[in-house]
Amino acid sequence: MARAPNVFTCSACGHEAPKWHGRCLGCGEWNTLVEEARAPARAGPASAAQPVRPVRLADVQAAKLARLTTSIAELDRVLGGGLVPGSLVLLGGAPGIGKSTLTSMALGNLAGAGRRTLYVSGEESAAQIKLRAQRLPGAALEVPVLAETDLETVLATLAAERPEVCVVDSVQTLHAADLTGAAGSVGQVREVADRITRLAKARDIAVLLVGHVTKEGALAGPRVLEHLVDCVLQFEGERERTYRTLRALKNRFGSTSEAGVFEMRQGGLVEVQDASARFVGEATRAPGSVVLAAMEGSRPLLVEVQALVSPSELVPPRRIANGIDRNRLALVLAVLGRHAGVGAGGADVFVNVAGGVRVDEPGADLAVALAVASAARGVVAGAGERPIACFGEIGLTGELRSVAHPERRLAEAAKFGLAPAIAPAGAGRGATEAPTLRAALKAAIAGAQRRGSVPAKAA
Ligand code: TYD
Ligand code: MG
Repeated sequence: MARAPNVFTCSACGHEAPKWHGRCLGCGEWNTLVEEARAPARAGPASAAQPVRPVRLADVQAAKLARLTTSIAELDRVLGGGLVPGSLVLLGGAPGIGKSTLTSMALGNLAGAGRRTLYVSGEESAAQIKLRAQRLPGAALEVPVLAETDLETVLATLAAERPEVCVVDSVQTLHAADLTGAAGSVGQVREVADRITRLAKARDIAVLLVGHVTKEGALAGPRVLEHLVDCVLQFEGERERTYRTLRALKNRFGSTSEAGVFEMRQGGLVEVQDASARFVGEATRAPGSVVLAAMEGSRPLLVEVQALVSPSELVPPRRIANGIDRNRLALVLAVLGRHAGVGAGGADVFVNVAGGVRVDEPGADLAVALAVASAARGVVAGAGERPIACFGEIGLTGELRSVAHPERRLAEAAKFGLAPAIAPAGAGRGATEAPTLRAALKAAIAGAQRRGSVPAKAA
């Protein structure tokens, strides 16, 4: 059968062209044309369709979602209780973060529980996948694999094997033969995801699509992929470090405020359920160290924030941030200098969240400020044996602003003996409330000097 020729659509204005142009003839934008397979024209007039009677929402029968649990508690929780049959989950993350390991473990557990599974890899050979599976616990070796990059073959195999759960690692490596673009191009990724979605919905297959993230941290391929799937999970952390966090950015079947913490070990990923205890236990009592009462989804998490301030020979001096946003560090340094009398001036400033954890929330500002101030002055923050805990957003005028869930953060700090934590005004019981950054500094650092219960060491 002769196929209709493909069409090139502008992703900015929707203009269609029969062939690819560098510049859209409709709106004049560059590099916006994306190749799409033209659907065969439907036979018969549109009016042949029968009207359907809409149902009142109150009368809709909501079937209880039967979830497939992966037996990885942290993953199940982030998913909202397990995988939903017929749903598509996109798992994004940088190369080497552990996406293949996590999905192999999940499939292994499902296979061990008697579920039909399939691992499709366009990235590694079956032998490479086996090498990984040999390191993993459970029934990882029981999972059938298909090392294939041709989309048609993958779809045909899925239709024949009818797995209940399938992993496609990765969506960027599959190739639809009817599109001319290279595998991983916008048009290809969209086509691959779209065809898999249709099959998954029709056959009730739960699909985990693995996707790479770009250097900027966005999921590679078009944003449209995020609209297509039911759930978008992001696996983050630093490759060289052991801790990784899994977050839901979108979830049609659960909340997006959940996060899971994992540790990469010799035998695969291990769930870290007592992450706060680990991080507090590892926290140092030295100048430049404070504990941040952060929120990981709906769970409070105590992490150590460290800073080092050292004389620089460079102009401009270095500002290195690991685990927090660099722009946020610049803002905190500016406010520290302008409103709290702690100028980093020409010194190099390094800030690090211990364990390779990433905290992307404004509540981290105060911890960064206190760590930098403590490092710059060479004094230990807090007065007692225990590290000092804090949280709060810093405003441009030097005020401390409240952040979400102060009560949960304070309760977590208290649980590990770090009460009272320094927090914005109105935080409630268990907090040393500070309306401004200056007041918070006084509570954390001036207190330590005055009482002198901890000897001040040079950073
Ligand atoms: P991988 O899952 O292949 O990452 P991704 O699919 O996201 O690219 O694994 C990444 C790293 O994890 C790899 O460098 C080796 C390491 N690793 C372990 O440390 N322990 C293990 O048990 C396994 C399977 C991998
Ligand atoms: Mg991989």
